[in-house]
Amino acid sequence: MQNLSSSPNDVEKSLNDLPKARFWEILDICQWEGFWFEPGLVKPAAIFKSNFQARDDDVILASTIKTGTTWLKALSLCIMEKDHKTFANSHNHDDILTKESPHYYVPTIESMIYSTKTPHVDLYYTSAPRLLHTHLPYAVLPDSVRNSACKIVYIARNPKDTVISMWHFFNSLFGRNQEPFPLDKAVDCFCSGVHLYGPFFEHVVEYWQESQKRPKKILFIKYEELKSDPKGLVSKIAEFMGRPFADEGEVDDVLWRCSLERLKNLEVNKNGFTVFPVPNKSYFRKGEVGDWKNYLTPQMEEQINKISRIKLEPFGLFL
Ligand code: A3P
Repeated sequence: MQNLSSSPNDVEKSLNDLPKARFWEILDICQWEGFWFEPGLVKPAAIFKSNFQARDDDVILASTIKTGTTWLKALSLCIMEKDHKTFANSHNHDDILTKESPHYYVPTIESMIYSTKTPHVDLYYTSAPRLLHTHLPYAVLPDSVRNSACKIVYIARNPKDTVISMWHFFNSLFGRNQEPFPLDKAVDCFCSGVHLYGPFFEHVVEYWQESQKRPKKILFIKYEELKSDPKGLVSKIAEFMGRPFADEGEVDDVLWRCSLERLKNLEVNKNGFTVFPVPNKSYFRKGEVGDWKNYLTPQMEEQINKISRIKLEPFGLFL
């Protein structure tokens, strides 16, 4: 790991000295604090790390990419909103999810708040409890997030489905009118950890370990559990956030509002953008557990299993 100061100015000065790589032979990325980022995101991430003041009633969602972030954002938003109708940018309409994508209401802090490239969101104007998201690894979170009473909900996903979801996502962004990027190379890239917000395995394990030490602070959930027991898990998230459901009807309503089929078919998600140039529709695909079986060869499967056995099995994760 680079031993560079993480003050935003120092980071900016030392940007050229950070290790560099090409992601999928198309995008320059650089390594900061042991993880890989787009160079333009390193300074915003460093500003987040050094400037952000967490409040005790904040809820911070966290994830690496393609693990169910959009779903968790939508569900958490509905949970928060049921008690605070004026939360964040929402209006008192029945369902704000029909107006904007979950990424609009639950901004990813480093890329949507501290980045100059995306619309500025004022974090501090609201007195209501804030619901925010980050893709940053646990070790890079601001001290105020780690040390205040704010809560963190982390969503993880099976690495094989994550890699397939990434492959579809980045092909749709980079590969218009082109052949898809070879899947075997995408798997190599994932296993080497040299990809956006990678390495995946370390990202998951850091949050897992912390959630074991501080279960009241960090709730670690798995996409697969959310699929197999949605009512149970959404109720658990709501209780963890201090906003338990009054009855089963409320849980059913939230699950329906946030279902993949519904969100995917809303006009705002079919044709809208939240952070240009990523269309909202690229966040919604199949949402199936085990879709990797339709794509990975036995060799690719074994390649991912091998690294999972080393990195995840010792923690009882994703065997
Ligand atoms: P697939 O590509 O396997 O379909 P992220 O939000 O972290 O980018 O993750 C995207 C993955 O979550 C995609 O998986 C997407 O289809 C799935 N997803 C998005 N919204 C969902 C929802 N409401 N319910 C279930 N899965 C959802």
